[in-house]
Amino acid sequence: MCGIVAYIGSKQALPILIGGLRRLEYRGYDSAGLAVFENGQPCLVKAVGKIDNLSEKLKNQSFDSTFGIAHTRWATHGGVTEPNTHPHTDCTGNIVLAHNGIIENYRELKESLGSNHRYTSETDSEVLAHLIEKEYTGDLRQAVLSALGQVRGTYGLAIMHKDHPGTLVCARMGSPLVIGLGENEYFVASDATPMLAYTKNVIFLEDGEVAEIKRTDMHIVNLKDQQVAKKVSKIEWDEASAQKQGFAHFMLKEIFDQPTVLQDAIRGRFKLADGTAHLGGLNMSEPEMREIKRIVLIACGTASYAAMAGKYMFERLAGIPVEVDVASEFRYRDPIIDNQTLVFGISQSGETADTLAALKEAKRKGAFVRGIVNVVGSTIARETDGGTYIHAGPELAVASTKAFTNMTAILLLYALQFGRLNKLSVATGQRLLAALTEIPEKMKLILQQSDKIKELAEKYKNARDFLFLGRGVNFPVALEGSLKLKEISYIHSEAVPGGEMKHGPIALLSPEFPVFAIMTKNQLYDKMRSNIEEVKARKAPIILIATEGDLGAADLAQDVIYVPPTMELLEPLLNTLPLQLFAYHMAVALGRDVDRPRNLAKSVTVE
Ligand code: F6R
Repeated sequence: MCGIVAYIGSKQALPILIGGLRRLEYRGYDSAGLAVFENGQPCLVKAVGKIDNLSEKLKNQSFDSTFGIAHTRWATHGGVTEPNTHPHTDCTGNIVLAHNGIIENYRELKESLGSNHRYTSETDSEVLAHLIEKEYTGDLRQAVLSALGQVRGTYGLAIMHKDHPGTLVCARMGSPLVIGLGENEYFVASDATPMLAYTKNVIFLEDGEVAEIKRTDMHIVNLKDQQVAKKVSKIEWDEASAQKQGFAHFMLKEIFDQPTVLQDAIRGRFKLADGTAHLGGLNMSEPEMREIKRIVLIACGTASYAAMAGKYMFERLAGIPVEVDVASEFRYRDPIIDNQTLVFGISQSGETADTLAALKEAKRKGAFVRGIVNVVGSTIARETDGGTYIHAGPELAVASTKAFTNMTAILLLYALQFGRLNKLSVATGQRLLAALTEIPEKMKLILQQSDKIKELAEKYKNARDFLFLGRGVNFPVALEGSLKLKEISYIHSEAVPGGEMKHGPIALLSPEFPVFAIMTKNQLYDKMRSNIEEVKARKAPIILIATEGDLGAADLAQDVIYVPPTMELLEPLLNTLPLQLFAYHMAVALGRDVDRPRNLAKSVTVE
């Protein structure tokens, strides 16, 4: 939530800052602002709304500055107004600060600062600028360190001072900051995407670290002002992967990325001859793996639906009981965890505050804690004791798509790896792996139906409600289809298991209440078919996802989308795609802002 970009070097800062904000807009888009040094003065420009509004405001201004900070906001404390937009300043206007996170004790700090300070916003962040003002005696880094010593909460910070036109101070506690290293220039951002065009060499700031950055050098210290040695990492994502590449929206591009990135996720991670996977990052010996009696999958939103699909996989292939926990619930119910429990935190961003807090709780209770994460170097990736990157590449649309399929594929590989250590036969393992390698080509066949699904969206765009139905491993798919639809088109939708409908939700059905059902050929096919007959009897319009060659499907439904056959446990990897495309085309048909739906932000770093 909220994105920070900063640049100090010899290039013009403005295009780097605006370009960087556009890359980070997925983190929040209530308002945006920036500050650059112009003629020795910090010069601030802010606008409510998306980055385009800020850009429009800057159209007739020219800044030669080679140093600046910028911020895109997802409002927490204080409404969506220009005064509440970052960067914020102190009373003198000398200190300029962009903040991501929450200063929990901002009221106490404000009180202790007394009545001499004049505030221009309602934000917690501005209080920090005034606190630094109070602590400042000529050394910006020292003032920041003294102020941070009094702060409770989370922060990613970029700070400049009028009297130090060549010094940028950054700090991190709970909100990510990456520093990109160029030649006599530094880039700072909440993730690496704003700097991909300039450098691949980065340093990930850790919690409790403060960087003092000048054009030619940088010092990183801890909160006690002790020097910290840092490792330079190489980012493998390329610039092109963070662009729309001719697609109308990032979401559509990311849906179409799936055949390629699924291959990236599984490549080199299984042995067909042994019918097993080998995910070395798990960091557990075979005896330790055999001792695992329970697996807990912790995640939020879309990632939690991938986890639900993973539950079916682990239980069926490995015979290990699995619980799926929504992270925000897990930590507050005193969960039963022991040293025979393996906990996976599953997260695209690797920064989700609820997931991170739940993993810390599991670790405290003695579990093996591992991550299944997309963003390399993210907090969850670093705070877990091993795990696997899903290699989906940058996912910039707020609605998650390719991360879901790649998470599900990695969970399948883990289930296979544990299964083969238990009772799963080589032959079954081999059949699953052979089927998995066919998935990318089958995904392409589904994506070819995008235009047909667009027509369906036109047909159904005026529906006020939708019900999604699935059974077994397709129930999480139904949940994901429903979430996708509601979050980007704002149409109310729910998902229930097919067999549960008769226990209540069926009362909703009418000719005005369309039902989207997944009825592919698997062991629950007949049961699902009966459930759909129940829907038909209530005259609700039906859209079906059915297996190619299922000639009877068309008799049941108004509309059918056919998908290629695969093994049941792999069905989520295919059946999710038509639902993603349907949500996408519905949102476009309704004129919604597909990549930046209202009220949302991609990386949810507040609890
Ligand atoms: C839905 C969506 C969210 C995220 C959730 C978890 O399209 O994107 O529900 O899945 O906020 O985010 P990560 O995976 O980054 O932990």
